[in-house]
Amino acid sequence: MSQKTNQQWGGRFTEPTDAFVARFTASVDFDKRLYKQDIQGSVAHARMLTRVGVLTQAECDDIIRGLGEIRVEIERGEFEWSVALEDVHMNIEAALTQKIGITGKKLHTGRSRNDQVATDIRLYLRDETDLILDEITRLQEGLLALAEREADTVMPGFTHLQTAQPVTFGHHLMAWFEMLSRDYERFVDCRKRINVMPLGAAALAGTTYPIDRHYTAELLQFSSPANNSLDAVSDRDFAIEFCAASSLLLMHMTRMSEELVLWASAQFNFVDLPDRFCTGSSIMPQKKNPDVPELVRGKSGRVYGHLFSLLTLMKSQPLAYNKDNQEDKEPLFDSVDTVKGCLRAFADMVPALQAKKDVMKEAALRGFSTATDLADYLVRKGVAFRDAHEIVGLSVAYGIKSGKDLGQMELQELRQFSDVIESDVFDVLTLEGSVSARDHMGGTAPSQVRKAVDAGRQLLAAR
Ligand code: ARG
Repeated sequence: MSQKTNQQWGGRFTEPTDAFVARFTASVDFDKRLYKQDIQGSVAHARMLTRVGVLTQAECDDIIRGLGEIRVEIERGEFEWSVALEDVHMNIEAALTQKIGITGKKLHTGRSRNDQVATDIRLYLRDETDLILDEITRLQEGLLALAEREADTVMPGFTHLQTAQPVTFGHHLMAWFEMLSRDYERFVDCRKRINVMPLGAAALAGTTYPIDRHYTAELLQFSSPANNSLDAVSDRDFAIEFCAASSLLLMHMTRMSEELVLWASAQFNFVDLPDRFCTGSSIMPQKKNPDVPELVRGKSGRVYGHLFSLLTLMKSQPLAYNKDNQEDKEPLFDSVDTVKGCLRAFADMVPALQAKKDVMKEAALRGFSTATDLADYLVRKGVAFRDAHEIVGLSVAYGIKSGKDLGQMELQELRQFSDVIESDVFDVLTLEGSVSARDHMGGTAPSQVRKAVDAGRQLLAAR
């Protein structure tokens, strides 16, 4: 045998790996991102091996010191990653052995890269999920502040994007808040299933060493070791769930984005996005483009894509570990980066939104938004709802012809359609009257918006 085979597993091979295959199968270019968790997991594994008497305390101390130095080198950018060493795990292990000699080779006792990588991703995703939860809360805090400020601001509410009934802007913002509360819960729930420890499963069947998995789990703050070794090395449900929760979050953010884009247009002109969140055009000097919400809307595509990548990756995989699983990382990493980026942009931007109250109010005055209020008024005066609906329909038709909204008509004009209408009708035809009348839990009245904001503050305080 003239050429060297792979140092970590080349024993049974008679020729070295094809140069292209080595590059093709390597993952270090992207999984080096897991270096911190890889070291964290190795330190816990070494401690456990020492506790059960597989390693001596001196060996354990050497391993932990060596890994600590490697971590510093990586963080200083001094570490030399090698594609020949395939992945983050073997790069770090080789460096450790170079540093501390033969003891470095003992670290992998009772362990496989299969349970190691599954552990690393879970540690990584647990940390990232915590950051994401904090960012959702920050965005929600911004929404609460804005909703409180805009509790009395009236705007048109829409169905089919047609003016429907007046609502308060604060109420609209609190609808966004609700969507995000569900997203928060989904990530919290997903975190429970992330936080289970594969270590000890080894390659697939467990190990012959007297390991103490509960101790390792405790050191790494996992809620428990995984129950079944085959499942432990092959399960990626938690990553799929994370991408599903991310997709729903992004879907919600596209809805917010779409509204912001519409509202920032000259046609709506409901809000002013701060200049620092917009860009101009190199050819049209008047332009101020809502790039941030547009980009968030666009970025949903890749996150949905990653969800499908992972579902497809796992489809039909026989137990237990398969090399396919190496493909889980890039979709997951990109989902994490995208979600964090979108949340950060929104959490920074939302508190700086300026509502154009006059324009919103003016828009609510157009489009017969108080038509339902007039119908309810007629019902209160004894008219059956269906008849009331008809009467208001005729009034609206008259309004379209005469160019007047309901609130702008004289009492005589309204009375053409029903003589139960009296001057108190104008209390319900005003925007303020309309929104204030919807004064029950979940309704749009300013007092209810304030209550919802208080409840929201309590919810966030309890997190
Ligand atoms: N780089 C691999 C991955 O990301 C690590 C596990 C490799 N295990 C193996 N038996 N080849 O999944």
